[in-house]
Amino acid sequence: MDQIQAIQKRHSVRKYVGREIEEELQEKLRVEINTCNERSGLHIQLVTNEPDAFGGFMAHYGKFSQVTNYVALIGKSGPDLEEKIGYYGEQIVLKAQQLGLNTCWVAMTFSKRKSKCRVEKGEKLVCVLAIGYGKTQGIPHKSKPIESLCKADGELPGWFQSGMEAAMLAPTAINQQKFLISLLENGVKAESTGGFYSRVDLGIVKYHFEIGAGITNFNWV
Ligand SMILES: Cc1cc2nc3c(=O)[nH]c(=O)nc-3n(C[C@H](O)[C@H](O)[C@H](O)COP(=O)(O)O)c2cc1C
Repeated sequence: MDQIQAIQKRHSVRKYVGREIEEELQEKLRVEINTCNERSGLHIQLVTNEPDAFGGFMAHYGKFSQVTNYVALIGKSGPDLEEKIGYYGEQIVLKAQQLGLNTCWVAMTFSKRKSKCRVEKGEKLVCVLAIGYGKTQGIPHKSKPIESLCKADGELPGWFQSGMEAAMLAPTAINQQKFLISLLENGVKAESTGGFYSRVDLGIVKYHFEIGAGITNFNWV
């Protein structure tokens, strides 16, 4: 499965079957997480066989069940933390999809306090990714029309169209899709149009756009 197929197949999954993630797959996830941490300076951690973070009222209210593995998305507080978390977190999400696992981004419906991860001084736990074998593969989200998510003069070049298709499949908090991608003379601009966790959303959307458009076809401005 390539990254485009992973983008097409990925949907949020909140109910899991309680099967352990095999050691070999855990190792592959850890390698991906280490690569992300080295590139970004983030402090992302995989937590396995830990039922407490998703064991309480919030998780059940949020319709999660049998979540015992998660990826804690942590980094040093700063102005670009949220966007970086979105960008690198989605890289891990798509890797998990390629390994046959399911995921869900979670900002609210888990217990930060009970999460078993190491948050050092000056760091922040922004979100987690629930991860494991889902009961189902999830369902496609409804999307806003492409015209309301991008801006360009004239006809869209093929690579930009493909980038937008990938961006429209990106997970966003409460499926808000509050972003705007503009084709300018000197490159592509992506901005958030506000909303809850929209800086994280922006990082996720930019990662999808790069895969869809092909990173060699454009530059961000
Ligand atoms: C930053 C972020 C935070 C999210 N937080 C939660 C959450 O707290 N609880 C939850 O059930 N889903 C959460 N989601 C999942 C979104 O609801 C989901 O991605 C969106 O509805 C689109 O559906 P899809 O992921 O299946 O494409 C979050 C998604 C993102 C990107």
